[in-house]
Amino acid sequence: MGAATMRLNQNTMLLGKKVVLVPYTSEHVPRYHDWMKSEELQRLTASEPLTLEQEYAMQRSWREDADKPSCRGRGFGTEAALLMMSYGVTKLGLTKFEAKIGQGNEPSIRMFQKLHFEQVALNSVFQEVTLRLAVSEPVRQWLLAQTSHVEEKAYRDGSAEHQ
Ligand SMILES: CC(C)(COP(=O)(O)OP(=O)(O)OC[C@H]1O[C@@H](n2cnc3c(N)ncnc32)[C@H](O)[C@@H]1OP(=O)(O)O)[C@@H](O)C(=O)NCCC(=O)NCCS
Repeated sequence: MGAATMRLNQNTMLLGKKVVLVPYTSEHVPRYHDWMKSEELQRLTASEPLTLEQEYAMQRSWREDADKPSCRGRGFGTEAALLMMSYGVTKLGLTKFEAKIGQGNEPSIRMFQKLHFEQVALNSVFQEVTLRLAVSEPVRQWLLAQTSHVEEKAYRDGSAEHQ
């Protein structure tokens, strides 16, 4: 998402049933850095290991992007995706979603398929599949129904960038 979007949602907190999405701020970096020491996570997200300093730099460049689940298979990923998609449709006017996923990342591909994304391309060079979901009116209605419980609140944290 671009800079305008970042400003729009920098104080937004989305509360679902199982997950809460908050802006990724510098105070989250040490925990995220710990999670990303996992070789499995590095492989699944096609990420290089970073030093803590690099991770802070990365956070400054993102200033967004909410979560890395640590307990998989409990519906957190699905709900997090639904929260973001619903926010994107209702607040940002997005009309389609696209996910590029490593061919071997079965959990992620399955999750997006369950969210009604369809595979539209396979890049054998990058070993990556592209899945897409166009937000038709039925899809929009489904998304709103899936996220009718979501609360949106103002988010404040202790780091300087939000003061
Ligand atoms: C992809 C990811 C975010 C899914 O989050 P999650 O909280 O485990 O997902 P959910 O519990 O909502 O499960 C959603 C669906 O994903 C699929 N799934 C989850 N774990 C799976 C596994 N180990 N094997 C195969 N499919 C799996 C299932 O289809 C599941 O639906 P079901 O439980 O009804 O069968 C999570 O696996 C993850 O963090 N992976 C590592 C990082 C990553 O791959 N990021 C995405 C890069 S594109």
